[in-house]
Amino acid sequence: REIFELDAAGETPPLTTDLAALEEAVRAEVPADSYNYVAGGAGTGSTVRANRSAFERWRIVPRVLRNADRRDLRATVLGMEMPAPVLLAPVGVQSILHPDAELASARAAAELGLPLVLSSSSSRSIEEVAAANGDAPRWMQLYWSGDREICASILDRGKRAGFSTLVVTVDTWIRGWRPHEMDRRYSPSRQGVDMAIPFSDPVFRSRLARPPEEDPTAAIQEWQRMPTGASKSWEQFAFLRDHWSGPIVVKGILHPDDARRAVGCGADGIVVSNHGGRQVDGAVAALDMLPEVVDAVGAEVDVLFDSGIRTGADVIKALALGAKAVLVGRPCAYGLAHAGEAGVRHVLRSLLADLDITLGLCGYRSPAELGRAALR
Ligand code: FNR
Repeated sequence: REIFELDAAGETPPLTTDLAALEEAVRAEVPADSYNYVAGGAGTGSTVRANRSAFERWRIVPRVLRNADRRDLRATVLGMEMPAPVLLAPVGVQSILHPDAELASARAAAELGLPLVLSSSSSRSIEEVAAANGDAPRWMQLYWSGDREICASILDRGKRAGFSTLVVTVDTWIRGWRPHEMDRRYSPSRQGVDMAIPFSDPVFRSRLARPPEEDPTAAIQEWQRMPTGASKSWEQFAFLRDHWSGPIVVKGILHPDDARRAVGCGADGIVVSNHGGRQVDGAVAALDMLPEVVDAVGAEVDVLFDSGIRTGADVIKALALGAKAVLVGRPCAYGLAHAGEAGVRHVLRSLLADLDITLGLCGYRSPAELGRAALR
């Protein structure tokens, strides 16, 4: 509403509401390495493009004169009421993008009451982010290390710091083939960034020959190597159940059989995701697998979605195909890079306003009314 009030007063909003323009602004403002870190995908970028073209193929069929003048965006996800079915996706090492890093994202999320999913490669510690997030709902993502004691330590800290829900990312046990990062010799340590979550962890520190302050490159390499050494399988999921009392959501599922397996192992939710196209070049668009996964496990657990959400219409499409909520990655990262906390807040408010208006124009009063009949 405020965005339109500004327009009515003849002023333009202080930040663009055009996401493509925002991305271009960020590209011009930040070092190429930082822009590539956010924008890039695996290999030729075909999965990044596929994610977007899947959204283009689905079209909404608006309905009219259905008393949709008052909307309510609230949604219940994993038994938790949220002001809108939108979460901030885990995005690592945000100090590459802005000095306030994850603290800015945590404050913006808290203002809007949308859950932040904190990356386990965060550049600010679990406790610092929790303090910035205050009383707001927060979830924590885990790159599942092969070192059980490190996992247990991080999970314990997360619980103490008030993170309610664990998101276990299962599609990134090694990094994808990312030429744009390798050829530019991108590495977090070259950027002089911190990875506070592992670096501040006493168990992780005990595994290093030299402390991260003295040799950050070796510390980052060790952190990135750890998931590889795990050779994990679904059987080991019990470890997470034993060390986390709240809900567990498995992120990075595309095949319905994997979704069934996750639920069979005790997962409380699924995120259908291809990691924003950053892992497998040539992977199927995440949106194209959403209906199958919802058909497989949607009656038992909440299915969430990410990879390609850019507009209110995109949120509507994912919800109509059965997602209970969506996670937003790159748009928030661009907002952060451009204007810190205000930038993240602006991107999210724009997305919610767009969702609200478009939902109404399509004849729906709440996300819960959406179903596959809304689309062609
Ligand atoms: C990510 N993503 C990610 N996922 C995760 O589980 N842990 C992480 O640390 C990160 N880090 C990360 C950094 C950057 C720069 C990006 C762009 C993405 C993936 C993220 O959570 C999400 O799956 C995708 O970003 C969703 O796709 P869109 O919204 O970016 O298209």
